[in-house]
Amino acid sequence: MNEKKMLIGMQMGNGYGAQAHAWQAENVDPYNYANLDAHARYAQAAERGKFQFVFLPDFASQSQKADDVAPMLTMDPFITMAVMARATKKIGFATTASTSFSEPYNLARTLKTLDVMSGGRIGWNAVTSTDPAIAANFGSQIADKETRYARAHEVIQIIQALWGSWEKDAWIADKEAGVFADLSKIQPINLQGQHVASRGPLEVPPSKQGQPVIFQAGGSPHGLGIAGRYANAVIGATFTIEDSIRQRQNVRRAAEQAGRDPEEIKFIAGIMPAIAPTKRDALNRRGRFVEPSIHQRVGYLGMMLSLSLTPEDLDHPLSADKLATARANPSDPRSETALRIAREGWSVRDILYHGIIDYHPSPIGPAEVTADHMQEWFEAGACDGFWFSPDVYEDGIDTFVDEVVPILQRRGLFHEDYEGETLRDHLGAPVQYGLDPRVA
Ligand SMILES: Cc1cc2nc3c(=O)[nH]c(=O)nc-3n(C[C@H](O)[C@H](O)[C@H](O)COP(=O)(O)O)c2cc1C
Repeated sequence: MNEKKMLIGMQMGNGYGAQAHAWQAENVDPYNYANLDAHARYAQAAERGKFQFVFLPDFASQSQKADDVAPMLTMDPFITMAVMARATKKIGFATTASTSFSEPYNLARTLKTLDVMSGGRIGWNAVTSTDPAIAANFGSQIADKETRYARAHEVIQIIQALWGSWEKDAWIADKEAGVFADLSKIQPINLQGQHVASRGPLEVPPSKQGQPVIFQAGGSPHGLGIAGRYANAVIGATFTIEDSIRQRQNVRRAAEQAGRDPEEIKFIAGIMPAIAPTKRDALNRRGRFVEPSIHQRVGYLGMMLSLSLTPEDLDHPLSADKLATARANPSDPRSETALRIAREGWSVRDILYHGIIDYHPSPIGPAEVTADHMQEWFEAGACDGFWFSPDVYEDGIDTFVDEVVPILQRRGLFHEDYEGETLRDHLGAPVQYGLDPRVA
């Protein structure tokens, strides 16, 4: 049996699934976008699978890109998270919120209140936002990278200081003595940065885990500076074991450089499986979501393989001539996988049905294929866990929970039950209240 167990988090967006056309699946209610009871049901399914957390991406701008697809995100991640937290007991939640377009006091207050009401199960994925459409919603513009990240450091530090400003033993609640709380222990923080400032204190008591956990996503050098100092979990975008090992090491090194123990920061790799009894069924399951954009995808596949491909090519394998000249395009890290699958002799349509243009690796086949992928990556040291993006929430979560999770448990790779109560417990993150004195 393996000593160390993998973590599993689940992506939760719009109420339909991670595939753009999930809203059209026959078992899906197309009005789920506005139905938070559905979101709650999906969080309960994830909790039944003993996942460590549910993760909500967010971009504060329009995310529906065409008439035939749904918005990618939930209406409001904080409110959705509150509803999901009330419907569950153990599983953790992390939501994305921008350091560029939030005031630290507002964000500190909302996140810590959620942490208190959920019994210490909340995390915050701190992002800086790069899309001018987001800036426009705040009557603003995207600042240059240095400025964005300088502000991000200030926002995170002020938020953590505000979280710690109601000291752990401040609340007396002694009716007889007439002391509600010791005000000497709920004191201003008086932090003034170059970009943001806050006086405090924040009138929110400690949660069961003290305060929310910080997440970071993406592996840019500036992002690593944030992850290394503050994060306990990093969601990566990696397509090969080698790249994932490298990114995990970068994250661990960044933590060390910030004076932290690399074990405090978990690197999470993405997966977008299609699970069905046979490989053919699984290809068809993914294929139905590939079909609506297959003509664009075939051109893109050509670019990945350094070939010219048109819809005419869809129903044949690549010719021997084409295979001989095909090269994996180094500008897209998914190209190696595309080339490997092309060489297996699949038709161009089936190559695309392998989900090779999806934004995380896609194990396609019976549950063992996904479990094998996870085992291989985990045992190679490519990650500490996985960020599972279900294709369709309505049945995709239950299939993973009923079919993949038991295999991982039998192999000693995934826990049988929650060991603790809070998100910090689930991630093995150390106790922290207020700023981290090693970092600030
Ligand atoms: C798996 C993953 C999820 C992400 N989720 C979000 C998100 O929900 N919202 C967001 O604004 N950015 C998100 N990002 C983008 C990163 O936060 C970051 O902006 C990006 O990696 C570019 O880095 P840079 O701003 O340093 O150039 C995500 C990145 C990855 C890899």
